[in-house]
Parts: sequence; structure tokens; C-alpha cells
Amino acid sequence: MAELEKRLPPPELGQQMLELQIRHDRLWWAGKAGNWNLAYFMVGELGEALRGIEQTNGDAAELQPQKLSEVMPSVMTPAIKTMQEALAKHDRTAFVKAYDQLSAACSSCHQLAGSAFLHIERPKTPLLDNLRYAPPARR
Ligand code: HEC
Repeated sequence: MAELEKRLPPPELGQQMLELQIRHDRLWWAGKAGNWNLAYFMVGELGEALRGIEQTNGDAAELQPQKLSEVMPSVMTPAIKTMQEALAKHDRTAFVKAYDQLSAACSSCHQLAGSAFLHIERPKTPLLDNLRYAPPARR
């Protein structure tokens, strides 16, 4: 299977980035609502998406001469870890700080790739509104 994947052309990096954008958006609304379980889930999915990109697009032309498989973890792993720590503490202030750090990490790679115009920041309206962000009512 791994051998077969190697022979397939890599997915389009811009497409893979769209998934990151969705996860990044949902993480914000879940954390803002204090829905820590949902936020923790989203940051996990974001981490998985990052790993998927590293594996399938580790040599992405957009980042040459740098190697995406090296740049992505070095830029994103500390930001993801800080976010997970903030969520584990159910700390809203730490969440917002970690979120801005995460967004800055995304943007720093775009800058490195010569696409500084792709600036990632806090969303102002949810991308989709059919997922409930409010935490379940306590009984
Ligand atoms: C390792 C480098 C790297 C990291 C880290 C990274 N990106 Fe990107 N991103 C790119 C590159 C390169 C492009 C341009 C892709 C292209 O040319 O199609 C891009 C493009 C994008 C786009 C535009 C996609 C489009 O075609 O409309 C979005 C949105 C995006 N990234 C979101 C994010 C988010 C959100 C994060 C963080 C969670 C992130 N990126 C982290 C390298 C990165």
C-alpha cells in the first residue's frame, strides 16, 4: 500500500490546505464556546491533517528548496502542543493566546513559501453553522 501511494501523484497542496482552514475555523468556535471536548477533537483532527500532508506531500514543489516534511512539523508541532495544553486546562485566556500562536505558525510557513498574502487569523463568522458549538447543557 505504501509503495502504491508512492507511485500516485501527490494531492494538490492547495486542496489539502482547505481542510486545514476548516479545522482551524472550527477549533476557534469550539474553544470560544468553551466546548472543550469539541475543541480537543478539532485540534486532534488538525494534527492528523498536518501529518497526512507531511506524508503525502512531503516534497511539495511550492516549498522547494525547503522540504515540507521537515518545515511543517517544526513550525506546527509546538503550536499544536500549546493548544492542547490550554484546552486540557479549560483555560479561555490560554486558548485565545494559543490560537493566535497557531495562526501565526500557519502564516509563517506561507511567508516562507513566498505567499505572505495568505495570512491566517481569527475567524469572524463560522464557515458552516450546522455544527453545534455550545457545550451540552449540564444536568
Ligand atoms: C509547511 C508549510 C505550511 C504550513 C505549516 C501551512 N501552510 Fe497553508 N499553504 C502552504 C502553501 C505552500 C500554500 C500554497 C499552496 C498552493 O500554492 O496551492 C498554502 C495555502 C494555504 C491556503 C490557501 C489555499 C487555497 O488554495 O485557497 C490556506 C487557506 C491555508 N494554506 C491555510 C493554512 C492553515 C489554516 C494552516 C495552519 C493550520 C496552514 N495553512 C499551514 C504551506 C503551509
